[in-house]
Amino acid sequence: MTVKFENTALPDIVELKSINQSYDGQKYVIKDFNLLIEDKPQQGQFVVLLGASGCGKSTILRYIAGLQKPSSGEILIKGKSQTLDDRIGMVFQQYSSFPWMTVLENVAIGLLYLGVDKKEAKEKAMAMIKTVGLEGHEKKFAKYPTLSGGQLQRVAIARSLLVNQDILLMDEPFGALDTYTRLKMQDFLIEIWEKVHPTIVLVTHDISEAVYLGDDIYIMSANPGIIKDHIKSQLPLHRDRGIKRDKTFVEMVYHIEDKMMS
Ligand SMILES: Nc1ncnc2c1ncn2[C@@H]1O[C@H](COP(=O)(O)OP(=O)(O)OP(=O)(O)O)[C@@H](O)[C@H]1O
Ligand SMILES: [Mg+2]
Repeated sequence: MTVKFENTALPDIVELKSINQSYDGQKYVIKDFNLLIEDKPQQGQFVVLLGASGCGKSTILRYIAGLQKPSSGEILIKGKSQTLDDRIGMVFQQYSSFPWMTVLENVAIGLLYLGVDKKEAKEKAMAMIKTVGLEGHEKKFAKYPTLSGGQLQRVAIARSLLVNQDILLMDEPFGALDTYTRLKMQDFLIEIWEKVHPTIVLVTHDISEAVYLGDDIYIMSANPGIIKDHIKSQLPLHRDRGIKRDKTFVEMVYHIEDKMMS
């Protein structure tokens, strides 16, 4: 990956402007929240949200996915007010596939829902199944233990990317996986990012995962939920496991830990 964007003339892929959130007139749980994610076609971006439980990370993802509207404020996708047509997929910590359907059916479902012809949806789903390394598993039911936890998350990623290859939202997607599978899935995500170039917004509690994957890392604080720090990664665009021994990597991990605890 050699492309390195500075400023593009394109509108930001995601823009959250002056967001406030309260429930039932109670105090704000998110206040004056602003986030700009630059569009970098052919490269994508890796944005990570870190922060204490309850600070609003999942809520921010739900806004971008169009699953929730804030009490006030504006959400723009590629410079335009968000609409239902934006169809941005989200991968959750809990396995979110339909266990009574096959891998192929699970991946194709978004396109079928959009009215895409059955044959075309199947072909596109098969191509995406190959991209996520699940070829040969397409006829299996998408349930544990027929598929492993990591494979089930690949199904969810494939389904999301098939509907919208530009943005992928992930809410603690590897939280339920064992350490080994989690590390494998981090590398898998890097591979997908380099193949498909989506802009990924990832919520994680794992600082090392945030540094390994993120270009832009935002640390949120709670009550009300705001961004308290923005760290731009100094690591090279291409990541591999060797980088974890790099002095810059280790320093970033401690720097973020200090910021989170301050
Ligand atoms: N429907 C609701 N009614 C009242 N409060 C809510 C509602 N939904 C969310 N909240 C509150 O909004 C705040 C942000 O919630 P959110 O789930 O976004 O946090 P989070 O950062 O994702 O937390 P975690 O790390 O535990 O997943 C929390 O304080 C939560 O209690
Ligand atoms: Mg959450």
